[in-house]
Parts: sequence; C-alpha cells; structure tokens
Amino acid sequence: MAGNLLEKIVSLCKRRGFVFPNSEIYGGVRGIYDFGPVGVEMVNNLKKLWWREMVQKRENVVGIDGAIITHPRVWEASGHVKNFTDPLVECQKCHKRFRQDEVKGKKCPVCGGSLSEPKKFNILVEAKLGVLEEEKQTYYLRGEACQTIYLDYENVLRSTRQKIPFGIAQIGKAFRNEITPKNFLFRQREFEQWDMQFFTSPKEMEKWFAYWKKERFLWYQKLLNHKKNIRFREHGPEELAHYAKKAVDIEYKTPFAGWKEWEGIHWRGDWDLSRHGQYSKHDFTYTDPKTGEKFIPQIVETSGGVDRTFLFLLLDAYEEEEREGQKRTILHLHPQLAPFKAAVFPLLANKKELRDKAREVFSLLSPLFMVDWDDNGNIGKRYRRQDEIGTPWCLTIDFKTLKDDTITVRDRDTMQQKRIKIEKLKTFFKENLT
Ligand code: GAP
Repeated sequence: MAGNLLEKIVSLCKRRGFVFPNSEIYGGVRGIYDFGPVGVEMVNNLKKLWWREMVQKRENVVGIDGAIITHPRVWEASGHVKNFTDPLVECQKCHKRFRQDEVKGKKCPVCGGSLSEPKKFNILVEAKLGVLEEEKQTYYLRGEACQTIYLDYENVLRSTRQKIPFGIAQIGKAFRNEITPKNFLFRQREFEQWDMQFFTSPKEMEKWFAYWKKERFLWYQKLLNHKKNIRFREHGPEELAHYAKKAVDIEYKTPFAGWKEWEGIHWRGDWDLSRHGQYSKHDFTYTDPKTGEKFIPQIVETSGGVDRTFLFLLLDAYEEEEREGQKRTILHLHPQLAPFKAAVFPLLANKKELRDKAREVFSLLSPLFMVDWDDNGNIGKRYRRQDEIGTPWCLTIDFKTLKDDTITVRDRDTMQQKRIKIEKLKTFFKENLT
C-alpha cells in the first residue's frame, strides 16, 4: 500500500470533503488547496490542540494574530529579499525550470536537453498596493509567519506583564513561490504555519533550545499511531537557513519521499531583532529588571506546518482492513482531531419514533462537539462512511432505545458495540475525549 498511499489520501480527501483542489473548474492552481467541510473541522481541531499546548497551558507564552502584509522593509531586514532563494536550472531546449537539488546530472528530465548553470530565484510572493496605477508599490505576502512576531514583540512586552524569558505564538498563513509544489499538501505555495518565538537572554539560549526541542517532539509523537515514524535530524552547516546558527528538524517518515521535515527548531540568536533594529533604527536592547543586565533578546524558534501536519496525520491514520469478508477503510485519528466525535443513526429512517429519539440524542451532544447525522442506507454502510472520515463513535437508536433509553455505541477501531443509557452519554464523551 505504501507506494500509492498518497494517491489514496488525495482521493479520499476529495471524495469525502477533506481537501479540494483550488479553482478546479478553471484547471486549478499548482500548490494551492481548499479545506472542505470535513477537513476544516479537522484542521480547526488541530489548531485548537496546538494553541492549548503552546499558549493556553503556559504562563510564559502569549499569542498574536498578525497581518499577512507588512512593510516591505521587513523582508529586506529579515534577509529574505536577498537570501530567500532556491537555485534553479533551466533546460536550454524546452525551457522548463527545475530546482537544482531535484535533478540528477546535466540533462533535462522532461526532454533530455542540456541544463543551464544554476541561477538564484527568489521565492517571496509579491503584491501591489496603492490607489493610482503609477503609485502602486511592491509589498510581499509574508514568506514566513514569524516575522510579525518580531514586529509585535515590544508591543507585547509593554501590553502584558511578560518578562524575558517568554514566548509569542502565532498560527498564520505564509506564501512561497515554490518552484515545484508537490506531494499534495506537503509543499504548497499558500500554507499555514504554527510558530512560537521564545525570547531569552544569551546565557539561557542553550537551555531553552533543548527544552523546546524535547517538548515539540513529544507533542507530535503523542498524535501518531506509528510512533517510530518520527525522528530528529540536525542541520549541517551548509544547509542552515540564513537566520539560523543551529537547527534541528523534527522529521516524519513519509511513504512518498522517506524522512521529511515536519517542524524546525531554530537557534535564531539575535539575528532578527538586531536586523530589525538596524533597518528601522530602533534599539531593541533589553534590560533585565532583576540583574540590570543589558542584551538584545535571543530567539529559539519552533516552526511547523499546519497543512503538513494534517497530511502526515492522515498518512499515519489510514488503514484498509478486511474482517469476516468485509472490507473497510479507517482513519485511526486521535479522537480530539477527528472531524466528528460521534455520528447519530436512527436505525430506520422511516420510523418517526426512532427519528425523534435520535434527534434528542443529536440535540444533547451537538452543543458539545461536532456530531454527524446519518439516516441513509443500512447501518453497515453508515459505519463504513464514518470509519473513512475517522469518526470514533457511532450511536444507533433502535427499538430497544424506545423501551429502556439505551443506545448502541460502536467503537471505530475495535468495532465493539456496547449499550449505554442516554443519560450517561455526556460522561462517556467527557471521559473519552480528554
Ligand atoms: N520561520 C521559519 C520557517 O519558516 P521553514 O523550515 O521554512 O522555517 C517551517 O518552515 C515549517 O513550515 C516547515 O517545517 C513545514 O512544516 C512548513 N512549510 C514550509 N514550507 C512549506 C510549503 N511550501 N508547504 C507546506 N508547508 C511548508
């Protein structure tokens, strides 16, 4: 299955409403996707989980939500205008361009023509702003979400009671004119990042780098069924980004390209605040209120991809199973991530008493979390539909329910069924969803 697992995920995503190609009726745009009704639930659950982990449960991390467009000087100061480049080679015959690191040898992989020497290609996405055509100025859609955190850093410091060391977290879109967007959500041109920038004194840099490395690894690992498919990889000096003095990737073992980056933990040092200080003529020197020590805050960054996580978790959760002659596809998603926590089935769609009772159950649970309603087809088919979108529990309302107020709760992974009193349902979900 491994070889075509990605194709199966792409097909499932479209068929069941997780992810659609953007502008499909016009032929689509490479590297741009939309989340569908089921996908948006899952991605929102993911973001909520991250926010709870990184902001809500910590006293020393606060959140922001910055704009996508910033002053153009930001990207000069950040080094992206000069350094955010991929080396490209061009075929002299068919004029197709490729990332240099993706072609072997000197021949075009499409037509066999000779390839040019590598040229640098900046991957920032531009936007023009201004009322009059001749006055329009070039701005950039942010190439990495974290830059807004540096721009807001002092406002956060002043408006909260935070003192260094502390962190600022943000979930937000980033844009890159990727030359070869590919592998579905893995490398896109518009995507979302979850970033946390931790501001510390130079003395404590080592300690916090080690701390965040461990925290982030354990958090991702908890979400996986196959715990061996995650590892660390340290960057060699030649592959460090222009802002990083040291970097380690958390990697996932993909079925399409082996180990690939999931999140980067970067030792950014004082690069960002020093550069913004230099370009904006602003002094970012911090005075420690206890010791009086003065320094430019150093930064440990944790920067991961929301869409990439979404894809990796689908790859991890997907299973095809055959039991007693019955085939099914299951997404073994963590219940907190599953788009629907439960699906409610009246056993027979045409029996009013069953439908009314099932509506009662639906109304009881739907204020708490997303519940699906399905009265279409036989129960077996309804189970299959829910397994395929990862719904952990299916609740069937049958004739026994009308007598004793119990319903059948069927577990997605074990397929075991048990009867529970309707009045006990809230407790059941409370216990199983934490
Ligand atoms: N601020 C640091 C930074 O942006 P990065 O390694 O370029 O570092 C961080 O990106 C994360 O963003 C990656 O680990 C990956 O999960 C995600 N990411 C980067 N480029 C992406 C793309 N083209 N499509 C989807 N996700 C991407």
